[in-house]
Amino acid sequence: MVSRVPEDVLRARSATVGRMAAAPSNNDGCAPSAASREPAAVRRMFDRIARRYDLANHVLSGGIDFWWRHRAAELVRQWRPARVLDLATGSGDLALAIARKLPQAEVTGVDFSPEMLAIARAKGLERIVLADALNLPFPDGSFDCVTVAFGLRNMADWGAALREMARVTAPSGHLLVLEFSLPRGAVQPLYRLYLHRGVPILAALVTGQKDAYQYLAASIEKFPSGHEMTKLIDGHGFVHAGARSLSGGIASMYSARKSSQWK
Ligand SMILES: C[S@@+](CC[C@H](N)C(=O)[O-])C[C@H]1O[C@@H](n2cnc3c(N)ncnc32)[C@H](O)[C@@H]1O
Repeated sequence: MVSRVPEDVLRARSATVGRMAAAPSNNDGCAPSAASREPAAVRRMFDRIARRYDLANHVLSGGIDFWWRHRAAELVRQWRPARVLDLATGSGDLALAIARKLPQAEVTGVDFSPEMLAIARAKGLERIVLADALNLPFPDGSFDCVTVAFGLRNMADWGAALREMARVTAPSGHLLVLEFSLPRGAVQPLYRLYLHRGVPILAALVTGQKDAYQYLAASIEKFPSGHEMTKLIDGHGFVHAGARSLSGGIASMYSARKSSQWK
């Protein structure tokens, strides 16, 4: 059994969602750089695309994203966690998929974009917290399982983010990371063409935000996958990291357990 998430934190932070104005900015139309991933620029970008985010996901992935989250939620179900933290929960699709598979579990979604969280709340995600994943407002060991789908890649410091995930994970608790990756072999050039040329054009039609999807392609190129990624996870508070390739390598799912050597 893990310690309770403080209800006052949950209520206070949830109450700010939807009425917190985006911070003033002089580059509101620009996406962050994939190299530095400045948190304020990342947050503004997701605030801007929030209302069209789900539609863009489903169109650009041809609907496969439902299957990826289903696979992730199924793995989490097998771990039987009582308390689940879904980081970078965005519009809440993974958190809601997990909640459907584990109706007894307490599933909390965290994100630093108020506009994305407002969508998650409208879709029925009850426990939402507005917070930065690199500085979580939860005591050590608060959750049996931490998940993050398509979120870690956007964080300014991947190692620090994983360490913070390990901190809030209970002893022997689980981690699940779902992320984009690049397919190998002959299809890779074709996929890259789609990612760099097709995706920004299609996304501009759906969201009006071409920049955000140019950033998506650049950030996928920079993000580690496979063995490089399992090494990163094992080096930051977790052990036994394993990788599964999904849909020919377009996405990857990683799982690990909290290290007993954590600290
Ligand atoms: C691509 S969306 C993924 C949303 C959702 N997990 C899904 O599967 O569709 C990435 C989300 O990560 C959030 N995010 C990025 N960096 C964050 C951070 N440091 N702390 C909290 N949320 C963050 C963004 O606001 C955005 O909602």
